[in-house]
Amino acid sequence: MPEVRGRFITLEGGDGAGKTTQSLRLAQALSAAGFPVLRTREPGGSPGAERIRRLLLDGAGFDPVAEAMLHFAARREHVVSTVWPALEAGITVICDRFVDSTLAYQGAGQGLERAVWEQLRKVTLGNFAPDLTLVMDVPASIGHARAVQRGLADRYEGLEPAFHERVRAAFLAIAAAEPARCVVIDAAQHPDAVFAAMWQAVAPR
Ligand code: TYD
Repeated sequence: MPEVRGRFITLEGGDGAGKTTQSLRLAQALSAAGFPVLRTREPGGSPGAERIRRLLLDGAGFDPVAEAMLHFAARREHVVSTVWPALEAGITVICDRFVDSTLAYQGAGQGLERAVWEQLRKVTLGNFAPDLTLVMDVPASIGHARAVQRGLADRYEGLEPAFHERVRAAFLAIAAAEPARCVVIDAAQHPDAVFAAMWQAVAPR
């Protein structure tokens, strides 16, 4: 892992939580405040990782361990070729989804053992972790309705409501277990109120 100088902020949460819109707003606000910013996302965010993304989001899916390994393979490509070089250059990186998504979706959602997730995380990232994680929380039914309205339902978005409820509960449990890193944002509010809550978490840091 290189010497990291920029801050690494991740946005997590279920589908339809508004992460994409809000990450764009956050990037604009940080730029306006004089910070160089890079916005990126997972799965994807580098050429190799985007190839793996297509495998993950198109097709029929994989065994949970295999699926988690593909997410971590994409993540390794992404951090090595995109995230670490930017942080090394002093750029603030805002990433739409990161390692918590694998614990929530493959772990709580698909039954992957936490110990396997821990091992894969260690191999992929060592001790590297976000400086701040904004957990965008929205009831699964609202998130699902938004995702359908957007007309972009991918493989995960098509899964049953109980899956998305487990994912939501997992993100809240992660936030409760790591209060120094994670801030839960009520993402069911008006977008302006959501952004205000995010900025309140980001600005002091
Ligand atoms: P994407 O279109 O980026 O979703 P969103 O706009 O809601 O963030 O698709 C990413 C999908 O991949 C999303 O449904 C969550 C899933 N995912 C996992 O299952 N595990 C992971 O580790 C990551 C990063 C994403």
